[in-house]
Amino acid sequence: MTLQNTETANKIKAHHLQMTSKLNGLVNEFINIGVRDQSHTSSTSSCRDNELTEQPETADRFSELFEQIIEFLNCELKPHAMAEELYLYPIADDFKRSSDLISSMIDDHRQFETLIESLTTKTLKKQSDIVLLSTCYSINKLFDLHAEKENKYIVEAISNNDSVDFAHVLNDMHDYISNLNDKLTDNRLDVRTLAPAFRHETIFNKFEELQNGDLFVLINDHDPKPLYYQFKAEYTDQFEWEYLMSGPSTWQVKIKKVG
Ligand SMILES: [Fe+2]
Ligand SMILES: [Fe+2]
Repeated sequence: MTLQNTETANKIKAHHLQMTSKLNGLVNEFINIGVRDQSHTSSTSSCRDNELTEQPETADRFSELFEQIIEFLNCELKPHAMAEELYLYPIADDFKRSSDLISSMIDDHRQFETLIESLTTKTLKKQSDIVLLSTCYSINKLFDLHAEKENKYIVEAISNNDSVDFAHVLNDMHDYISNLNDKLTDNRLDVRTLAPAFRHETIFNKFEELQNGDLFVLINDHDPKPLYYQFKAEYTDQFEWEYLMSGPSTWQVKIKKVG
């Protein structure tokens, strides 16, 4: 085991710890508010409609946490997992000859994606929404276990193999992730400050300027669903539409031009 490989392994483990701690903190606070709201709701009127507006401060914090969780999952967790599948897992697979392990790790990633998608496409309405709370709980627990398996069986195995330049692998992963993030942050179109009458025109102009394969992230203060149908009618099969955040105060959609 080389010193450089050990240092790289420690950096990856530290990054996993930082990510799991961040998600744990956000999800635990989010669930605590939701559970409190649920017991409050059931101890008062059964007909009470607990829309988010009822207790403004708690509701604001709950909405803020929801958006922070979604942002973490889409902008940190997903790119991290994609980089691993491209650079980390193939190396472990090569010398460990343990394709069952790698497939189970990739299965975990697919499971994250399904859960993240179900959260991202959901508009927050009630703090006590049990499906929403349990989805967040599942992602958090799954990520804890996944990071632990990755540290123990993949990161350790790679760092013990002297034929691998682990630092180089980590650099490739960093480059890939920062490229992905640059694409998302450099190409943002925030229409929230524009008068509604100009929004669609601005968005279509932006789309027209794109080359095939390019994308931008649309940021809006309401669900741009009507715009989606307009895109569908005017640019059939020429665009991809992916929600990165669905409210309650901000909507973000990745719009990509395809050939
Ligand atoms: Fe992973
Ligand atoms: Fe990881």
